[in-house]
Amino acid sequence: MADERKQLIQDIINKKKYTTYLEIGVFAGGVFFPVRAKRKIAVDPEFTFGKFKRRKKILKNLSNLNARYYEMPSDDFFNQHAGQLFKDNAVDICLVDGMHEYEYALRDVENTLHYLQQDGVIIMHDCNPQTAAAAISFEEWKNKNYEGNWNGDVWKTILHLRSLRKDITVFVLDVDYGLGIVCKRPPEDTLSFTPAQIRNFTYDDLAKNRQQWLNLKPIEYFYRFFNL
Ligand SMILES: C[S@@+](CC[C@H](N)C(=O)[O-])C[C@H]1O[C@@H](n2cnc3c(N)ncnc32)[C@H](O)[C@@H]1O
Repeated sequence: MADERKQLIQDIINKKKYTTYLEIGVFAGGVFFPVRAKRKIAVDPEFTFGKFKRRKKILKNLSNLNARYYEMPSDDFFNQHAGQLFKDNAVDICLVDGMHEYEYALRDVENTLHYLQQDGVIIMHDCNPQTAAAAISFEEWKNKNYEGNWNGDVWKTILHLRSLRKDITVFVLDVDYGLGIVCKRPPEDTLSFTPAQIRNFTYDDLAKNRQQWLNLKPIEYFYRFFNL
């Protein structure tokens, strides 16, 4: 699972010679630490690792030497630091994997798009929940003591972007609970839902329309689409 995510990220970094990697929602660094890129930026309100682990990870992967860590919610990061940080060097690639709720993920994507270079890419995790239980709200998941796999309703963010942003291409790879791919190319195919409709959709609606709503593609499509 995480291996597919890591591989895909590293493949596009290598092929396109991307330098700036941003990860929103880093948790234990299972993806962040192994990624090799010249400039790496981690954002999470609560890293589950300390300075000692960060230093140890430099020995395994030298690109962690210059990594920068922002222990705060992504909204604060974008308000306080992104302008300065990306003034001269835009974001090449971003993994959006923070709070898995429609509006949160949407803000993360739209804020990142603001700093993303023209040929850059955003990868969103957890866009294709396979069960209703995995698609519950954060509040419900918290009340269940964080039990079971949780994807939240990031799938609604995909519907929103495909309906309201006519300047970007959005599709979801059918791997790893759904990897949403967002880039600055005019879309071939769009949706026409309003935010109010999207908010009211249920998991059953998604299950009935999964393929079309998510613009679901096999993993090979990613490699073809970006000429990798
Ligand atoms: C699923 S984990 C990330 C996993 C990681 N990207 C990986 O691939 O191994 C989600 C993370 O999002 C973080 N998070 C929650 N709310 C956030 C927010 N508002 N801004 C940024 N990160 C947030 C959580 O603390 C948690 O560490």
